[in-house]
Amino acid sequence: MTISMKDEILKRILAADGEAVSGQELADSLGVSRTAIWKHMQTLQEEGYTFETIKKKGYVLTGVPNSLNPTQIELFLKTEHFGREIHYFDVVDSTQTIAHKLAQEGAPHGTIIIGEEQTAGRGRMARPWESAHGTGIWMTIIVRPDVTPQQASSYTLVVAVAVTMAIKTLYEHVEPLIKWPNDLLINGKKCTGILTEMQAEADLVQALLVGIGINANQEATDFSPDIADIATSLRLEAGEEINRAALVASILHYLEQFTELYVNEGFASIKTLWQQLSCTIGQRIEVTTLRERFEGVASGITDDGVLQLTQDDGTIRTIYAGDIKI
Ligand code: BTN
Repeated sequence: MTISMKDEILKRILAADGEAVSGQELADSLGVSRTAIWKHMQTLQEEGYTFETIKKKGYVLTGVPNSLNPTQIELFLKTEHFGREIHYFDVVDSTQTIAHKLAQEGAPHGTIIIGEEQTAGRGRMARPWESAHGTGIWMTIIVRPDVTPQQASSYTLVVAVAVTMAIKTLYEHVEPLIKWPNDLLINGKKCTGILTEMQAEADLVQALLVGIGINANQEATDFSPDIADIATSLRLEAGEEINRAALVASILHYLEQFTELYVNEGFASIKTLWQQLSCTIGQRIEVTTLRERFEGVASGITDDGVLQLTQDDGTIRTIYAGDIKI
């Protein structure tokens, strides 16, 4: 990936982490004129970056644009495959739909599809997913792991761990917890949902379409009355504006690492971390599957990511899919 002069300047200013960066030093080290630096700074301002100019010291970054365009994400990206091909849309029906099409056309492992807004965002069990413009992260990742369709069913738990780690790394005082199989809750309210779909042949996974919806910068009043009591956003919990591009890059970083571990060593290698980050194990829960509803204590998770429920009569049930209420 070649990086433009403008992006190189931006990278250096971001790396300064709030300290002033001298225009003259930028010009000298990049081998361009002071006027060229000034022109790039103007362009960055037009893109939504804000700077304070401190006399005799230089530029201090005071704000980043609220955009997920590929340039923003690439500034933070440390991965080899994940996010190296980005399909970015202002408005899209659902990133899942686009991902299905691109995967069939052979899009490479790690391709991501991002929309600023989804008009038909969908969740698990065919539920709608609120995806207002510019507020959240609405993204699908095309993953091509070398596993069987049966093994792939636990991948969604790996995704939940990756997203949790990314949030915790960037916002240390925020504590997301995983509700099996794939919701992230903060203070009991949902901030993230994961929808993993599959393209497969009999015993071969062609692609996993990993849809991640994160409520990032919503205010409480942005949620519809239907979900206002059960949803939250990272901004509400962290008390600060969320840099969505940095968060996307961090998720991709963790997901690439954990995917490699998962493919080489199976879900068992991530299970302990999943348990530490989960709010499900040890809780009394109510399970709703397509056919029935039952209760018990979530007593553990198997090496394949299957939930074990101890019922009141002591019998253990294994839950492969469903919704749970804690
Ligand atoms: C759930 O909790 O039910 C899963 C929600 C998944 C939402 C994401 S947003 C990006 C991707 N595109 C969709 O239409 N859905 C997923």
